[in-house]
Amino acid sequence: MKRPGGTDEQKRRAGESAARVVSDGDVAGLGTGSTAAAAIRALGRRVDAGLDVRGIPTSYQSRSLAREVGIPLTTLDDALPDIAIDGADQVAGLGRDDSADLIKGGGAAHAREKLVAAAADRFVVVADPTKLADALDAPVPIEVLSDAVPAVEAALSALGGEPTLRAAERKDGPVVTDNGNLVVDCAFGAIDDPAALSADVGTLPGVVEHGLFVGLADEVHVGVADGVDVYP
Ligand code: 5RP
Repeated sequence: MKRPGGTDEQKRRAGESAARVVSDGDVAGLGTGSTAAAAIRALGRRVDAGLDVRGIPTSYQSRSLAREVGIPLTTLDDALPDIAIDGADQVAGLGRDDSADLIKGGGAAHAREKLVAAAADRFVVVADPTKLADALDAPVPIEVLSDAVPAVEAALSALGGEPTLRAAERKDGPVVTDNGNLVVDCAFGAIDDPAALSADVGTLPGVVEHGLFVGLADEVHVGVADGVDVYP
């Protein structure tokens, strides 16, 4: 499902820019993926320099990295995030009055990522220029209960989508999420109305969560060749 991404330098710039807006005393949602990892590393350096922050990881990978770089962790049971920082597979609608639309879930972590982003006071997206699009048209990752895959795939086809069960890259069989579910990537072509599709897919029985993030992003930090473009 992963598309080719930007350079490490662009991701590092975006991550460092987002880590700079975390304030002393904040609880910060820690996203998943290579760009979010750049932000977690930058936040770890700020912790080394004395920043008081607690992180809420969105995946096994982000928890491991946060521990490695020394970010103290907490859970949604104990605190709601002041800020969440996360990457995206595609970002559309930058510069509009309302928030940009995102597709997430390339790392199969979108259920917890959406929970943390929605709970946060401020959701900061980190991206490189390869993620920007005029309209969302990437396949939408959909986390599905394993028993529900055939029924959900049929329902997605009836909605005009082309569903594909995500296969694991390094072993036979499907990708299994941190929550023990499977992932269906569904191509819809250019998505004219992400909010309507979000509602349609989100109400299918057996769908745990999907990767359309509509109305959630407060700002987007895009690492470019010579700096960072921050939207809005
Ligand atoms: C994981 C995600 C990631 O944030 C998304 O796939 C972007 O990853 P990367 O920064 O490595 O391109 O949604 O579920």
